[in-house]
Amino acid sequence: MVKSTTQFVCQSCGATYRKWQGRCDQCQEWSAIIEETGLGGSGRPRGLGPSRGRKIELVGLDQPSISPPRMLSGIAEFDRATGGGLVSGSALLIGGDPGIGKSTLLLQAVAALSKRGHHCVYISGEEATAQVQMRADRLALRDAPMDLGSATNLRDILTTLDQKKPPAVLVIDSIQTVFSDQLDSAPGTVAQVRASAAELIAYAKSRGTIMLIVGHVTKDGQIAGPRVLEHMVDTVLYFEGERGHQYRILRSVKNRFGGTDEIGVFEMTGIGLSEVSNPSQLFLSDRASAVAGSAVFAGIEGSRPLLVEIQALVASNSAANPRRAVVGWDSGRLAMILAVLDARCGLGLSGSDIYLNVAGGLKVGEPAADMAVAAALISSMSGVPVPQETVIFGEISLSGDVRPVTQAEARLKEAEKLGFTKALIPNGTKAGATGLCIENFGRLHELVDLFAPDE
Ligand code: TYD
Ligand code: MG
Repeated sequence: MVKSTTQFVCQSCGATYRKWQGRCDQCQEWSAIIEETGLGGSGRPRGLGPSRGRKIELVGLDQPSISPPRMLSGIAEFDRATGGGLVSGSALLIGGDPGIGKSTLLLQAVAALSKRGHHCVYISGEEATAQVQMRADRLALRDAPMDLGSATNLRDILTTLDQKKPPAVLVIDSIQTVFSDQLDSAPGTVAQVRASAAELIAYAKSRGTIMLIVGHVTKDGQIAGPRVLEHMVDTVLYFEGERGHQYRILRSVKNRFGGTDEIGVFEMTGIGLSEVSNPSQLFLSDRASAVAGSAVFAGIEGSRPLLVEIQALVASNSAANPRRAVVGWDSGRLAMILAVLDARCGLGLSGSDIYLNVAGGLKVGEPAADMAVAAALISSMSGVPVPQETVIFGEISLSGDVRPVTQAEARLKEAEKLGFTKALIPNGTKAGATGLCIENFGRLHELVDLFAPDE
């Protein structure tokens, strides 16, 4: 007999407790712990008993392998983010804020796949089939030969799927709405999300079906029901973008079948998501002519170089606590650069209000952007614009040294392609053959000197 146990589970990190408490010891989240009734408690094996298992075939590492076939949707940005197409039997998690466009993206992707002859099933737990059809109308996809369903009970979903040949692709939108009637806890709780996902993934693996699972992200950036899902799936993609912007980025943060940090760029239009095949052009398109406080960073996202504009505003402040507002970049990293500018270059920024923005709604995570951030800050402070047609990259160390970064050649090539003529880069960078005028830096204060107002 299966024993039912009650435990208290943190909905943020999945930690379990015997008793309720107000704050999770592991992730420090308040009010995230709720009571859940699960099957068999810890899930630890209770011994294997006398029956014997199946013999596993062991192969040598040097023996020939079969690389998995990939299924392409033809939407190049989607295929790129998935690491070059979907692998049969794999499970993908597509996370993102509510309303960012996950359902739209997946409907477009599976419609494209079904038009290529793959059998696709789209199960929505959030919308009725009529609503999904209305969306398909808007996206001009009503002619795609795919199957739609609206269900939330896991048993119903699996029973329905088992009546027919397993589909090549299955979308579950979203995992937070699916529930297993084996558990007492409410849909969207850790136990439910974990159990439903495990069942669905087991189905996908045994049938060779590609499983696309949509998961909503909670306020603090974890998928609700949360990180527990990330390690269960083969690929984790996040669909991100700023509310006010039409650009959306599909970023892979984990991929068992391809590189991570790969991005696909889309634009949300009135008729769905359209691909952006040259994102640098798009992120730079609104750039005003040389103004102080703006610098162009030559970055790398996954395997693709990407130029983005970094904007800074330094404003004097007489209040005790200066304001720091950062969009698209790590605020801890900004604090570090400000400290280095203060301590090593004597800039005295610590009392000023500072605003930093990565244009276009992109999130930059590379330390290689340090130099561009510093240039934007220094330029805003001095009022001297960064010369137009100039790109910048380089990492800044606490000592005030400027360090070389990886893939410099690809960064410079992209800049050249987009009509830039000059690059401010670290000493010791392997620039390769380039038509750009290169200026090298070894220390941060050399960059500061560049922006000193003419006396
Ligand atoms: P949706 O795919 O429903 O988001 P999610 O599944 O991530 O919650 O997209 C929601 C938003 O996208 C909605 O506010 C309307 C907008 N949208 C467009 O701008 N154009 C379109 O063609 C579609 C279908 C949606
Ligand atoms: Mg949705």
